[in-house]
Amino acid sequence: MRLAIAQMEPMLLDLDENLSRLKELLHQAEDNRVDVLVLPELCNSGYVFESLEEARSAAEEIPLGRFSDLLISWSNHERLVVAGICESTPQRLYNSAAVFSQGEHIATYRKIHLFLNEKDWFKPGTEEPPVVEFKGARFGVMVCFDWAFPEIARVLTLKGAQVILHPANLVLPYCQDAMITRSVENSVFTATANRTGTERGVEFSGNSQITNTNGKILATLDRGRTGIAFVDIQPQDADNKMITVRNHIIDDRRPELYTRLVKSG
Ligand code: ACM
Repeated sequence: MRLAIAQMEPMLLDLDENLSRLKELLHQAEDNRVDVLVLPELCNSGYVFESLEEARSAAEEIPLGRFSDLLISWSNHERLVVAGICESTPQRLYNSAAVFSQGEHIATYRKIHLFLNEKDWFKPGTEEPPVVEFKGARFGVMVCFDWAFPEIARVLTLKGAQVILHPANLVLPYCQDAMITRSVENSVFTATANRTGTERGVEFSGNSQITNTNGKILATLDRGRTGIAFVDIQPQDADNKMITVRNHIIDDRRPELYTRLVKSG
């Protein structure tokens, strides 16, 4: 199965330009016969809003807007795509990852862990991140800052994810290394699609990457580049949870000693 990450520089609030940049990346993925594609967080809108009105002006209903339309039609050829979308509902905005497959909208994950000023525009999601099936494999979805909460990758693994798809707009310098650890501690593939460029003085780190179940980087894109990178994987490799001949990364847990993890205080 061919898994790809797309690194993009969205233009803040310029929906026409972002649609055309997205089309170019989708063409590249199509030309390279990609099966599963990950796009960055908020790829329709840009990231550094200064007001709720700005964020709302760039948001769309999923799956009714122009970006959803484009992604639905791209996915309508035995493909799966996940994209970070600035999502509007009649009441609120969400920082969402929408999943489209075989010409349909199959899931939306609304980001749970909002970063910095995202708290001013978005309502945090209230539902567990999803795992979706495609061509006999299982894909979990999380968004950007979820990397700093290892519970999310663990929950996705416990729900059966073999590959974690991870749209991002990374600002801090830690995530790419952290995702290597997320891979190893869960024995899963990860695919982080980050954005690049600078917006209102905020610099994004690029360096999108795909890791295997041992934390090896299989594909990457340099900090300032836009484009796609891809690799052929066997998602079933993630079913082997033996990290040594005598250690199973899931069955060796001692949850009775981790009860603090599920207390809020
Ligand atoms: C982030 O969650 N966009 C840093």
